[in-house]
Amino acid sequence: MKILLVGNGGREHSIALKISESESYINSRSTLYCTIGNPGIDKTAIPIDLKPTDIEGLLKFAKSEKIDLAVVGPEIPLSLGITDVFTGNGIKVFGPSKSAAEIETSKIFAKEFMMRRGIPTARFKSFNCANQGESATFIKSLNFPVVIKADGLAAGKGVCIAYNESEASEFRLELTSQKIFGESGSSFIVEEFLEGFEISVFAVTDGDDYVILPAAQDHKRIGEGDTGKNTGGMGSYAPADGLIDTDTREKIKKLIIEPALRGLKEEGRKYAGCLYCGLMISGGRNNRQPFVVEFNCRFGDPETQSVLPLIKSDFLELLIAAAEGNIGNYKLETRRLFSGCVVAASGGYPDKYDTGKVINGLDSAGDDILIIHSGTKYSSDKKSVLTSGGRVLSAVGFSPESIESALKKAYEGLGKIRFENKYFRKDIGYKFNKIKNDA
Ligand code: AMP
Ligand code: GLY
Repeated sequence: MKILLVGNGGREHSIALKISESESYINSRSTLYCTIGNPGIDKTAIPIDLKPTDIEGLLKFAKSEKIDLAVVGPEIPLSLGITDVFTGNGIKVFGPSKSAAEIETSKIFAKEFMMRRGIPTARFKSFNCANQGESATFIKSLNFPVVIKADGLAAGKGVCIAYNESEASEFRLELTSQKIFGESGSSFIVEEFLEGFEISVFAVTDGDDYVILPAAQDHKRIGEGDTGKNTGGMGSYAPADGLIDTDTREKIKKLIIEPALRGLKEEGRKYAGCLYCGLMISGGRNNRQPFVVEFNCRFGDPETQSVLPLIKSDFLELLIAAAEGNIGNYKLETRRLFSGCVVAASGGYPDKYDTGKVINGLDSAGDDILIIHSGTKYSSDKKSVLTSGGRVLSAVGFSPESIESALKKAYEGLGKIRFENKYFRKDIGYKFNKIKNDA
């Protein structure tokens, strides 16, 4: 079997490793290609010199190489309709169609869809450049803090939690006048702030049936104690299922995942791939209520790094089952294991940061630690590995005992890797016991 992995960040490195370890992949002597690649991914996949957004080029490649399955990591190729183009040419794809991916690519569509379908989410209104003035009245009707979000894609950064009117109007102007996120921010939503803790739940689905992977908790803020700007995610751990009881799990299925899949299908946007449910769990320990903060049309990054290693059943077969409409026959098995992922970023991220710094110690992290490459590349003489992005790499540790010990290993591994201005949060996982023990 020939597989094309689209994307070349940390999530795709994790996906590449997991595919290559699948028994079905090994037994069928399959081949894995990856767009661009990076020094981590290149150890398991053959890099091809085509960008994840070059849909036509990728189709040409897929046809000439007789690719059997494309696995799409990031949202942008999905938003460009890669799935529609490939399936139209008889090539199977793991990842939703362009119209189904709107669940992530338009926050206004997603929120209106949730309202139509009665899926619990924060109260909101949407605005655009023409009626943005009216947002001030809506903001006044809510209690601070309020949340303002760019409608379109903004790499996880188009969200502002405003604690007063001046913060709110400043961000509104950044979106609509300064256009800091380009057209993505010319429409926006304002919504009420939800109290609680967040978890990320991945439902792998063919549009009718679904399986839920172990839940994870991401750490979206750049600073310790969840302070500072939002990032793509600075660390994660899994399973986070210890934070929710059976009743809450049932609510997540019955009030969120099932109506979302049913609704998308009924509205002609049948969803196949990974439906990422970013949830806020509100209420006390005996009365947890899940609310959707956002849906994403793909696996999360860095949650994938900690979630995928916990899957015991054949991962490639899972992806194929979703693409072929056969999830009902897939039996998900998971490992009794804890994992923790810590991201190392370039100092300055998520604002301006340097690239091209030499990374040392990549081979000294230890055999039981996964080093996942995100923003890395080879130097021109191929002798060293350099930083090439904001989030550079992550270390993932494992333990049969606890999340704390898994994270301890990740920190030990990450400590052996050096590059100038390396930044990482030292408190990944800090909320787990606090949430568990809180009333
Ligand atoms: P989003 O891109 O919609 O996931 O928002 C990014 C982050 O902002 C989320 O992970 C939350 O931490 C925070 N956030 C977004 N919406 C809300 C909300 N309504 N209430 C509280 N926090 C929110
Ligand atoms: N970790 C958040 C995301 O992937 O959107």
